[in-house]
Amino acid sequence: MIAVTVNGRKQEVDVAPDTPLLWVLRDHLNLTGTKFGCGMALCGACTVHLDGVAIRSCVTPVSAVAGKKITTIEAVGATRAGKAVQSAWEKLDVVQCGYCQSGQIMSAAALLAKNTKPGDADIDAAMAGNVCRCATYVRIRAAIKVAAKAMA
Ligand code: FES
Ligand code: FES
Repeated sequence: MIAVTVNGRKQEVDVAPDTPLLWVLRDHLNLTGTKFGCGMALCGACTVHLDGVAIRSCVTPVSAVAGKKITTIEAVGATRAGKAVQSAWEKLDVVQCGYCQSGQIMSAAALLAKNTKPGDADIDAAMAGNVCRCATYVRIRAAIKVAAKAMA
């Protein structure tokens, strides 16, 4: 059994230590808001926070997160940055098909949690690993700026 703390709740899961965190979240904890895209850290669909830092859960073995705090899209709205990002996403109607968007929101929230005045270069660096096949990039950038203003 491996103990994980997800969205403030400590739970034990009966999985092999090298099981990707993504599958623990989706298959064992029923948190299906985090998506599978590539499985190789190339698309960002599986992004969650590990102690506040955006990570790719598809390539993170569950053994690496024991004793650390995981936050997923289901709970990021309870954080100041997450709430601001989700409000801005709604205001600017960012989402198209939606598949990539939980990952986009998690990366944006991690950025704004540590930098409430990000410039274009900061946004580019933070969001570079999050791919959107619907090309919502322009609205994502604008929404991050709206969220940053709301947090100022
Ligand atoms: S599914 Fe993890 S980065 Fe694509
Ligand atoms: S909104 Fe469709 S993949 Fe990003």
